[in-house]
Amino acid sequence: MSQADTRPWMDAARSPDERADLLIAELTLDEMIGLVHGPMPNLLDEVPADAARGAGYVPGVARLGIPPQNATDASLGVANPRKVRAGDGATALPSGLALASTWDPDLARRAGAMVGAEARAKGFNILLGGGVNLTRDPRCGRNFEYLGEDPLLAGVLAGEAIAGAQSNDIVCTIKHFAINDQETCRHVVDVQIDEGGLRESDLLAFQIGIERGQPGSVMSAYNRLGGDWCGENDFLLNRVLKGDWAYPGWVMSDWGGCHSTTKAALGGLDQESGEQLDKQVYFGDLLKTAVQEGEVSFERLTDMVRRILRSLIAHGVLDRPVEREEIDYEAHAQVAQAAAEAGLVLLRNQGLLPLAPRLKVAVIGGHADVGVLSGGGSSQVIPVGGAALEIPVTIGPSSAFSRITYHPSSPLAAIGRRAGLVTYADGRDLAAAMAIAADADVAVVFAEQWTTEAEDLPTLALPGDQHTLIAAVASANEKTVVVLETGGPVTMPWLDDAAAVLQAWYPGARGGEAIARLLFGEAEPSGRLPISFPRSTDDLVRPEIPGMIFGPPVEGATIPTSYPDVQQHKGRFSVPHPEGAAVGYRWFDRQQTSPLFPFGFGLSYTRFAHENLRLQGGASVRARFSVANVGDRAGVDTPQLYARVKGADGQSGLRLIGWTRVALAPGERREVEITADPRLLAAYDVSLPGWRIDGGAVAVSLQSDAQTVTLSGEAELEARTLAP
Ligand code: BGC
Repeated sequence: MSQADTRPWMDAARSPDERADLLIAELTLDEMIGLVHGPMPNLLDEVPADAARGAGYVPGVARLGIPPQNATDASLGVANPRKVRAGDGATALPSGLALASTWDPDLARRAGAMVGAEARAKGFNILLGGGVNLTRDPRCGRNFEYLGEDPLLAGVLAGEAIAGAQSNDIVCTIKHFAINDQETCRHVVDVQIDEGGLRESDLLAFQIGIERGQPGSVMSAYNRLGGDWCGENDFLLNRVLKGDWAYPGWVMSDWGGCHSTTKAALGGLDQESGEQLDKQVYFGDLLKTAVQEGEVSFERLTDMVRRILRSLIAHGVLDRPVEREEIDYEAHAQVAQAAAEAGLVLLRNQGLLPLAPRLKVAVIGGHADVGVLSGGGSSQVIPVGGAALEIPVTIGPSSAFSRITYHPSSPLAAIGRRAGLVTYADGRDLAAAMAIAADADVAVVFAEQWTTEAEDLPTLALPGDQHTLIAAVASANEKTVVVLETGGPVTMPWLDDAAAVLQAWYPGARGGEAIARLLFGEAEPSGRLPISFPRSTDDLVRPEIPGMIFGPPVEGATIPTSYPDVQQHKGRFSVPHPEGAAVGYRWFDRQQTSPLFPFGFGLSYTRFAHENLRLQGGASVRARFSVANVGDRAGVDTPQLYARVKGADGQSGLRLIGWTRVALAPGERREVEITADPRLLAAYDVSLPGWRIDGGAVAVSLQSDAQTVTLSGEAELEARTLAP
């Protein structure tokens, strides 16, 4: 008998739904329960032989050919936060904000494909990637994992990264559904936000990401939303995700984010993950009893299992089981480097950059002699060959699982390969730093800000004495470049005195090389900020992070751990989100506040002109225009299309409705076209329910960032509605 006869669910000619149903017909109740919950394998007394030692493990059903689900974090590379797989390094991408700064969907796809390939080769068939939470607070400790503050940009890039990851015949998630915009009190915060505003912001990012990427699974967020935890939130999971969006995959809880059996099962959660972190194993025996007693219907359990199996089948997990393979780390490092080079953002340049070769360069601070910083938490990648430096974390909620980790790509060495002479000072001795700066042609000062999952930043200032260091170096040598290795925005009181500022984020496996190539003009800076840099926390929606309590400063701690001791308020509390969809640049626009650097901003070594904007209305907006490189170097421009649209809250505000990237030789000019996603031109109307465009004239502008209009006009829209 052929396999199609004995195992008809392995017949690839049948649809994933049909195949899932054929499998379900074979499963016992215990086997079904076994598929909907799982532990962190490394905390088990005995690690199962078929566990790949990642974040999650759900046993398979060997007699039917259902493989175990082996899950690993995450978007920035195959993580190994507590080094549970001794010696297992992986290729570190630059941070999510760096990837988002590329505004390049193709690069996001390549980056996702690279991470997915490593996950697969290390025996994982579930990648817990796809973090798409919008940055509502620049101090949030996990911003570095995400893709910025705009739903279109974040949704498109997340979708492409997910599609890239899944091209390896594994499942990728999208997470954390939804909001989870602060790490402080992330398990107890109850986000209050109006539905229209939510649909037009974070939910839209998820919606676009899911449409583009078709992730096999969605991970629910830790926080509560409108009273209920996201992992048992009927509105989010049943009504929006599975109802309005007809999402066919499964919802897994975040680790420690499952809080009940019946309420969660009926609220739309399909799988309990990392179950040792929950108060009880809710989806094991408790769920079995609930099904036997009819509290949770057998149909609902079947639906949970069907969703899991359907996704595993649809994404090739059964047809092409993962096998350990050799990894071409050199080729993968090149992907990381390409992402870094395209994702670093040149914020200021008073004619100093690019640097000529053979100069005498003083390199100062930021551990530039050893490597580049990375962000902490579950997404932590341990580099191939081991970290260049690890600093233990002794205080705060992340101390249980984070270490400040540097990837071995030394900016000092990379600059040294290009300069005539380099000198180095670690920055702790101000006089020594000033002396080498004064004695050099150019000073490059590296500043760093470590951020981590589980903690937010108390301030946007660089930690320790780094502001003083930068100001001192700039006073010693007016040709000072500041390179910022930060999780997100920082304040820059020394800005006017710095000749150049390069935002390097956490630049990944080849970060040092990417920084040096940009500084010396071997690569052209082309990144654009995916997030606004505020002047002050006073300009934010919530000037203080709800639930954050300050303790005394930590005596004697060295950069970058010298934050004041920040504690977390315990117990449930509400956090109103009156901004609704007015996140980031939309908020600054509404408040008429100018940020330090606006969303979309980034300089190049050349100059661009936008010409001849033609707008067409109708069902959406189509813009045609030409972009010219009017400088004398090659470069990449990212013209951005914005519109002023009245949202669900009745207020008219600025929205990014499309963009394109154009690489141009000096003097070259190209015609381009952008068509807007009509949802960006609509208000979400809860009474329809759905998207509503009233029709009439809409103001459209072509911009180089959220504050700088290059050309503008109007388009006439047809009145129309769209399904939610
Ligand atoms: C994080 C998730 C992660 C999970 C598994 C949680 O702490 O919030 O993003 O996927 O751990 O490591």
